[in-house]
Amino acid sequence: MDGVTVIDHPLVQHKLTLMRKRETSTASFRRLLREISTLLCYEVTRDLDITTVEIETPMEPMTAPILEGKKLVFASILRAGNGLLEGMLDLVPAARVAHVGLYRDHETLQPVEYYFKAPEDLENRLIIVVDPMLATANSATAAMDMLKSRGARNIRFLCLLAAPEGIRRFRDAHPDIPVFTAAIDRQLNEKGYIVPGLGDAGDRMYGTK
Ligand code: PRP
Ligand code: URA
Repeated sequence: MDGVTVIDHPLVQHKLTLMRKRETSTASFRRLLREISTLLCYEVTRDLDITTVEIETPMEPMTAPILEGKKLVFASILRAGNGLLEGMLDLVPAARVAHVGLYRDHETLQPVEYYFKAPEDLENRLIIVVDPMLATANSATAAMDMLKSRGARNIRFLCLLAAPEGIRRFRDAHPDIPVFTAAIDRQLNEKGYIVPGLGDAGDRMYGTK
């Protein structure tokens, strides 16, 4: 699908299978999400622009590559986005962080906003929005609207699992934002959950119901 990258690295697929299993504990689920997020981060940042600086190694001077431009922003859609955020920050510790507080009303499946905090000058930075689940896409779409209304122009969306319905709705609403995911599952069920899926990502991360 145009604008959608499935990150099918064997380690990602293996860890995702462990995360899906019903018997996987909260501690293991959190650890796996953190591990998988470093692998996903590697792929979503693969084409970042590079510039060069002059440095001296212990042996001699050289012209060496470094990332170009302003620091990245990782934007976590709370709560479950924080599971991806941790591993991303392991890999890019200098990144700036935005938090977008949204929860899905279980009856209407509409997102309810409760928090927003982001670095200034979003318009000059690449923003990678993270949330493990893209189901109806209501939450991700609302998060993008919030970021764009604050000036964000260069955005990517990274998730772990997506429903085909969610991808279509997201791409219709935000065709300029590429989507990266580890898997696209069969469908949404009648309650708006991804099947086969992995259940409620936030509840599995934090041991809530
Ligand atoms: C989950 C998930 C996404 C959203 C996806 O969050 O982390 O944010 O649902 O569903 P959607 O695509 O249908 O909007 P939830 O609302 O359960 O909040 P939580 O992360 O605090 O558990
Ligand atoms: N949110 C989740 O955490 N899981 C789903 O399957 C759908 C939305």
